[in-house]
Amino acid sequence: MNDIFIPHSEIERQYEIAYSLASETKGKKACVITFGCQQNENDGERIMGALALCGYEITQNPDEAQMIIINTCAIREHAEIRALSEAGQFKGRKERDRSIKIGLCGCMAQQSHRREQIYKSYPYVDFVFGTDMHHRLPEIIKTALSAKKRFSFITDKPHNEFGVISEGMPVRRENSYKAWVPVMYGCNNFCTYCVVPFARGHERSRRREDVLAEVKGLVEQGYKDITLLGQNVNSYNGGCDFATLLNDCASFGGEYRVRFMTSHPKDASHELIDVIRDNERVAKHFHLPVQSGSTRVLKLMNRKYTREQYLEKAFEIKEKIPEISLTTDIICGFPTETDEDFADTMSLVKQVGFDMIYTFIYSPRVGTVAAKMEGQIPKDVSNARFKALSDMENDIAQSLNDKFIGRTLRVLSDGFNKNGIPVGRSTQNKIVTFDKAIPAGEFADVLIETAGAYVLGGKIK
Ligand code: SAH
Ligand code: SF4
Ligand code: F3S
Repeated sequence: MNDIFIPHSEIERQYEIAYSLASETKGKKACVITFGCQQNENDGERIMGALALCGYEITQNPDEAQMIIINTCAIREHAEIRALSEAGQFKGRKERDRSIKIGLCGCMAQQSHRREQIYKSYPYVDFVFGTDMHHRLPEIIKTALSAKKRFSFITDKPHNEFGVISEGMPVRRENSYKAWVPVMYGCNNFCTYCVVPFARGHERSRRREDVLAEVKGLVEQGYKDITLLGQNVNSYNGGCDFATLLNDCASFGGEYRVRFMTSHPKDASHELIDVIRDNERVAKHFHLPVQSGSTRVLKLMNRKYTREQYLEKAFEIKEKIPEISLTTDIICGFPTETDEDFADTMSLVKQVGFDMIYTFIYSPRVGTVAAKMEGQIPKDVSNARFKALSDMENDIAQSLNDKFIGRTLRVLSDGFNKNGIPVGRSTQNKIVTFDKAIPAGEFADVLIETAGAYVLGGKIK
């Protein structure tokens, strides 16, 4: 499997290509528009890093950019529609100025049926590239600047054949105290509703020493909140297991937090739960997506655990770590989901008591097993279930948050919220507002006085 690592000589070649573009990109701006999950956000930061290496000034405003890259997500139809409509916005601009380059990448670009659609219906998109092409960005940008024709850089191979790891390419982080660090890429789980294994290829882990060096560097630079990323972090196998990696990442000096996303319930280990409990730098937040409370539906989803096994894991977490915030993902309206199945989901949610639920309406994805299943659920039924779940969860979240009143929480400041109120996050990842301005990236103790379902409020001590 060692050949999944891009050789250092190839990375050096890309740096040379990047430097050779300096005169062409001088005074020009580039913009990356990212949709989707944290993994994709991190990819966006890597794309910006490569663009900056090539000499571009990075801007958030696409209207002033000469190079625009749309980094897409394909998890649900809504995400794809948003990305396509974003691409559509540049039609007029491209007609006025042919020298502007528009690229599209990410999980949607990795799918051949979407690429065909983009090729046919979005003629102003100049190039597309796949999810494992980031180490070749300088080459892609060079091609974009000189190509007379539209082009693509895609490894169009089956899931188990594509996917590489590149170390040493630049990252342009958007935040100076919160950082994402991928520990593994891809997914082998093939949940029957999910496009990710097709869009991201097979599971592959970064080497332990590379992850640790990145985290150590971030801590030395003053980063205070580091999130280790992977579609299923428990499958990590880059030289140790994930629990050990997490513990090691949270063992450099000074005050900072380490989080992770996402752990699959089938193999969230006892060791992992113990590390969260025992290492004070590991954030007390566990995101454990359940997807459904019905064992029958879980089986159809290919989740490989039962309702009872999930409950056992959730209770172990809550018992071992009383201050934990437990959050989850739930899909409403999976094919064949009956009222009874949904009642099982509602009762599981009640039994566990989640601090927050990310609820999604099932969206059929081309190429997945579930999309071909009989018994697709009408939209109005899914919508009603979605609403019932959200309403119940609001009450549960409120009662869990009420328990924080009178307690002191250590909060990492995010500066101010949209309304100009000082705000930050606790170790549980709860949003906390407070009375005095604290510079973003600094910790403070807050005595909690008020609680809403999703926001706590208090005074700096
Ligand atoms: N790897 C993570 C999830 C990544 S996708 C995990 O397994 O936990 C994030 C969430 O999107 C999933 O947990 C699921 O709830 C939701 N999701 C994925 N595919 C979906 C689909 N086709 N329709 C609706 N929601 C979906
Ligand atoms: Fe998708 Fe399942 Fe993999 Fe998560 S574990 S990314 S839901 S296939
Ligand atoms: Fe979307 Fe791809 Fe992430 S489909 S959720 S951007 S892995």
